[in-house]
Amino acid sequence: MQKELKGKAIALAINKVSKALIQEYDLSPSMRLIQVGEDPASSYYVQSIVNTASRLGCKAELLSLSKTASQEDLISVIQAANEDTGVHGIMLQKPLPKTMDDSQINMSIDPNKDIDALHPLNLGKILMQEDGFLPNTPAAVYYTLKYYDIDPMGKNVVVLGRSNVVGKPLANMLLWKKPYANATVTVCHSRTRNLKEICQNAEILIAAIGKANFVSPDMIKDGAVLIDVGINEIIQPDGSSSYVGDIDYDACYEKAQAITPVPGGIGRITTSLLYLNLVKACLIAKKINKNVDEYVDLIFGENQKK
Ligand SMILES: NC(=O)c1ccc[n+]([C@@H]2O[C@H](COP(=O)([O-])OP(=O)(O)OC[C@H]3O[C@@H](n4cnc5c(N)ncnc54)[C@H](OP(=O)(O)O)[C@@H]3O)[C@@H](O)[C@H]2O)c1
Repeated sequence: MQKELKGKAIALAINKVSKALIQEYDLSPSMRLIQVGEDPASSYYVQSIVNTASRLGCKAELLSLSKTASQEDLISVIQAANEDTGVHGIMLQKPLPKTMDDSQINMSIDPNKDIDALHPLNLGKILMQEDGFLPNTPAAVYYTLKYYDIDPMGKNVVVLGRSNVVGKPLANMLLWKKPYANATVTVCHSRTRNLKEICQNAEILIAAIGKANFVSPDMIKDGAVLIDVGINEIIQPDGSSSYVGDIDYDACYEKAQAITPVPGGIGRITTSLLYLNLVKACLIAKKINKNVDEYVDLIFGENQKK
């Protein structure tokens, strides 16, 4: 196993899967991105998604609402995208203004177009291990394990964080009865007692808490696999900024068997997975019953042989 688990190779392999499916089924996948307000970090992310579209043979159309838009305005824009047969996938940029009810808005997205897996139906499918859309960040962790052939079967896996977008779906995916899952999972959060001792017992430690360099070497087991989901902005004294994860990469590197970098690790894969979900949504719209994972296995297998 290589020590630094980079995301770029995985992102490229996932893009290859999307392109192969688009070609084989003559698809023209189209996404509608919806952004409320003009938060600079959100705008940067949304623009990078739009820029990726043409490279993959997809379309991505950005619909921006002003920060004063009401919840009703947003729901009506989502409903219009639900009804538009030319739109296969809907991506709603979060966070939304605090005045909006996330849960009601998530439920207004057509589950068959829900390429960021926000709708409870898609989250429920994860629980039941049924085919559906996977949220991109937990999926990025799952595909990282798969790509680098790190099978968590029977291992003590600790997930730090229990959010609806990362920790909870990821913990449930790791419990699946299938390869690259079957783990013994412990989920920790801000109320967990003995957090350090629990982490010390982890053969695979996955951090998703949003606290810069939180995991230190004294918290990890010798030879643990460390997966860092966190992205934390650090402002330098000169005003410039850099990004670090929830795991202290430099300090933990020696002790770890393998570790994902930040940036360049998990975050590097999520846009590719968003487009893979878009391709899947397009297949659903065309009523083509295709198991996308068969392609993933094939292409990951080819890369692993190299
Ligand atoms: N790589 C990517 O593409 C990607 C995508 C999404 C998010 N992220 C990053 O991943 C991180 C987590 O995101 P999120 O949306 O899941 O965050 P979130 O909604 O803020 O949830 C954070 C979770 O961490 C727990 N937590 C906070 N401080 C803790 C502590 N000191 N000890 C133990 N648990 C603690 C919280 O516990 P409570 O539930 O008790 O409050 C909560 O469950 C952030 O850095 C975010 O930027 C990355």
